[in-house]
Amino acid sequence: MKITNRLLLVSLIAIAACTSANAQKFEELAQTPPMGWNSWNTFQTKIDEPLLKGMVDTYVSSGMRDAGYTYFVLDDGWMAMERDKDGNLVADPQKFPNGMKEFADYVHSKGMKFGIYNCAGTKTCAGYPGTRGYEYQDARLYASWGVDYLKFDWCNAEGLNAKEAYTTMSKAIRAAGRPMIFSLCEWGGHQPWRWAKNVGQLWRSTGDIWAGFKKDLNNGSWTALSVLSILDRQDSIRQYAGPGHWNDPDMLEVGNGMKYNEDKAHFSLWCMLEAPLMAGNDLRKMSPETTAILTNKELIALDQDALGVEAFRYYAFDGIEIWVKPLANNELAVCFLNRSDHPQTISYDWKDHAINDAVSNTSFDFKQTSYKLRDLWLKKDVGNTGKTFKQTIGADDVVVLRLTKE
Ligand code: GLA
Repeated sequence: MKITNRLLLVSLIAIAACTSANAQKFEELAQTPPMGWNSWNTFQTKIDEPLLKGMVDTYVSSGMRDAGYTYFVLDDGWMAMERDKDGNLVADPQKFPNGMKEFADYVHSKGMKFGIYNCAGTKTCAGYPGTRGYEYQDARLYASWGVDYLKFDWCNAEGLNAKEAYTTMSKAIRAAGRPMIFSLCEWGGHQPWRWAKNVGQLWRSTGDIWAGFKKDLNNGSWTALSVLSILDRQDSIRQYAGPGHWNDPDMLEVGNGMKYNEDKAHFSLWCMLEAPLMAGNDLRKMSPETTAILTNKELIALDQDALGVEAFRYYAFDGIEIWVKPLANNELAVCFLNRSDHPQTISYDWKDHAINDAVSNTSFDFKQTSYKLRDLWLKKDVGNTGKTFKQTIGADDVVVLRLTKE
């Protein structure tokens, strides 16, 4: 009897230790914003195994993986139109003749993590089977395939309560036991930043992006947002982001048709916002300029900074904006954005502009302390805060500086 009791006690302790180790693995996901590639922005539902394996290969050979991009995420369009007789989702057999487990294994074999997409509603946005009513079954299936990341959309969700629906899926993922990043894609309508901190690791803050810098794109029943439209919707929610839980201003459009300076500004601003960096371009056809933008390690370091604080708009006048982002070790990133239609010359006396940020409880007084300036696109040191900073910035372009105490 005694032995049985002891055995029971030992087993209970082992289960508790295992559960808490597992919980810890979930807590440690996305301490910095996730980085990866997602199929939607370029391919929509026109995805298949040969195309995607080619993309995985180029992900490695182009240097994206070594620059820190980790996840390879299949968006909408990977499924067959119907579940099987047991209610399981199936990969479209035409598109993925070897099944999804084999594809996941391929992604893992190249040193990356694998992500997949579904939707909280009855159908996905493109009309494939949604997860509503199948949350635990789908989570177990994804875990058995080796999924590391789930993007979960919000189409055909009539009658659902967003917080409850996403919480159910979050619990289902935890119950399935495999640590997976849970990416809420609810477009910000129900203010997920107020309730999703313990539900998932990132939540979309807006509707869909398109490859336009200033102008939105009217698609009839819905409007795709430009880079600057999305930027203007981030400042007020920055206090909700931090290690393990991020505002998601949507995936990158770098390399998808904007001009070089616009791509450069888009990437800089997303790094300043400490946004998830999900590339969405055809990696097999990247120009050297696109590769240089997406793999700029000094910019990526801002995005992945350990302090986990989003930039805020410090100054705006006549088309010039200054965004500032407190960094770990009392460093600071400053982005000068020219959103006007003509080049502008800035003349900026640091000593007139002390910076105080209540969200991160940091302050920078350039009268007291001198900082070295590094231009992260020129990749060179450009003086210090003792002198007025003068620079001409082209239309729709940026200058990004990293400030380090001298
Ligand atoms: C929604 C999402 C997009 C993409 C599509 C897929 O529009 O916001 O990011 O996932 O659905 O259908």
